Amino acid sequence: MIRKGVILAGGRGTRLDPLTRVVSKQLLPVYDKPMVLYPLSLLMRCGIREVMLVTSPEWLPSYRSLLGDGSELGMEISYSVQESPRGVPQGLAIAGPWLAGEGCCFILGDNLFFGNLDPLREAMNLEKGARIFAVPTREPERFGIVEVDATGQVLSIEEKPRTPKSDLAIPGVYLFDGSVARRAESLQPSQRGETEICDLMASYLREDELECRELGRGFVWLDAGTPASLLEAGNFVSAMEHRTGYEVACLEEISWRQGWINEAQLADLARKQANPARRKYLQSLTES
Ligand code: TTP
Repeated sequence: MIRKGVILAGGRGTRLDPLTRVVSKQLLPVYDKPMVLYPLSLLMRCGIREVMLVTSPEWLPSYRSLLGDGSELGMEISYSVQESPRGVPQGLAIAGPWLAGEGCCFILGDNLFFGNLDPLREAMNLEKGARIFAVPTREPERFGIVEVDATGQVLSIEEKPRTPKSDLAIPGVYLFDGSVARRAESLQPSQRGETEICDLMASYLREDELECRELGRGFVWLDAGTPASLLEAGNFVSAMEHRTGYEVACLEEISWRQGWINEAQLADLARKQANPARRKYLQSLTES
């Protein structure tokens, strides 16, 4: 069973420059809250209470002051530094000592997931190997693409293929067993000087330990790494919140619904809100 989560929140954010000159990409607003709260909310909704956030030295204090140690949410949030962005799998190598041989759910800090998480939750019982997910896309050239056979067996994985073998994109959430840190450490950098997440998945595939599950129609995956997708994500959250009246990725609410904090603790968190609308929202949860 996966109990730990790792969020990767470093990187260069060049596609969002100049937005990312003085703010970390994953702290930019997606409608009404910093981006990183969305991937964190996904981990929480999957029952994960122990989280490691990996980021660059310059932004670490900002993440720490936003999220603290997690205790107010009934969680444990820890932090590690990636000195320079030398690849996505490096985040897992850095988290290695904290993982201490346990598996984890690994999520990219600029990936947002909405809707039915049941397939993801069901996959959390992983003991050995790795699980990735697949989402149909109309732009396979932009993403990591997985080819699967009729039984769901992974045949190939390719990063941004010119001639894609399928239209199934691999979103930035992965489940790995306890061997992941060791595997991540042994990866060699690619031509662009970074270790690649595709190579990490390939190391499991070579041993027949990579499983892929398709995420159904009730599931929406957005990444917010470009100006257009950042705006699209903000518009999406805005529409969801206005039409449903529910806040998306409200960490206090999720923690309370998970039973990690009680009603009195939620009331306490509500009182501490500077934003009156948020205070009211949190208070309304226990009134209905
Ligand atoms: P990318 O979006 O691939 O890279 P980036 O964030 O540096 O952006 P750009 O391509 O515009 O320069 O990274 C995916 C996620 O992984 C994102 O949340 C940043 C994070 N990341 C790290 O934390 N460390 C790294 O070394 C890399 C490559 C990415």
